[in-house]
Amino acid sequence: MEIRFKNLDPKQIYKIMTSVIVPRPIAWVSTVSKEGINNLAPFSYFAGISSDPPLIAVSIGSKSQEEKKDTWKNIEETGEFVINMVTKDLISPMNITSLPFEEEVDEFEKACLTPVPSLSVKPPRVKESPVNIECKRYEIIEIGKMGLILGEVLTVHIRDDILNEKGYVDTTKLEIIGRLGGANYCLITAENTFELKRPDKE
Ligand SMILES: Cc1cc2nc3c(=O)[nH]c(=O)nc-3n(C[C@H](O)[C@H](O)[C@H](O)COP(=O)(O)O)c2cc1C
Repeated sequence: MEIRFKNLDPKQIYKIMTSVIVPRPIAWVSTVSKEGINNLAPFSYFAGISSDPPLIAVSIGSKSQEEKKDTWKNIEETGEFVINMVTKDLISPMNITSLPFEEEVDEFEKACLTPVPSLSVKPPRVKESPVNIECKRYEIIEIGKMGLILGEVLTVHIRDDILNEKGYVDTTKLEIIGRLGGANYCLITAENTFELKRPDKE
């Protein structure tokens, strides 16, 4: 089957893109509004895009023709955010925070999560998440109704128990989840990961 995107509507394109570009990590983004209200929401159009400078990219849509999603608005207005990684035991609270709450609602409270202070930015981290990535806005590129947020990483928090004896992150201990198409997700476990060394040139 060949699918030409030219005459497809954005909903159909979204279905195809999110079913074939898999698995996607989930950026669970905490921000604070300029009025001081905490906000938390998941985004899976998310990737690490460079190490020097250390940059991540998150693509955030709009609520309507005129209104940006709260996360985008907060990053635009305050310039700061934290990406909290989503693990197996955080699936349910993550899902709750994807609901379109009014901007005056604190999603940490709605999902019974604990906000803890960050080191380099004002938005709090999710205490229950084992990895928190503190970022400042690098650039926001507006593309149609979407905002491509480029963030520069300032500080990363990693919970000690997921480090191995050499001090490296043991990815399989993280039990991180990934987003697939539709309402499907995957879980990274020791059984379904493997090591692959680069081949020798010879
Ligand atoms: C796993 C998951 C991934 C999501 N990924 C995105 C995404 O990449 N971009 C986006 O605009 N919305 C995405 N959403 C929807 C947002 O989380 C949702 O619109 C949320 O209400 C936005 O909250 P905010 O207005 O507080 O920013 C995703 C939802 C879920 C459950």
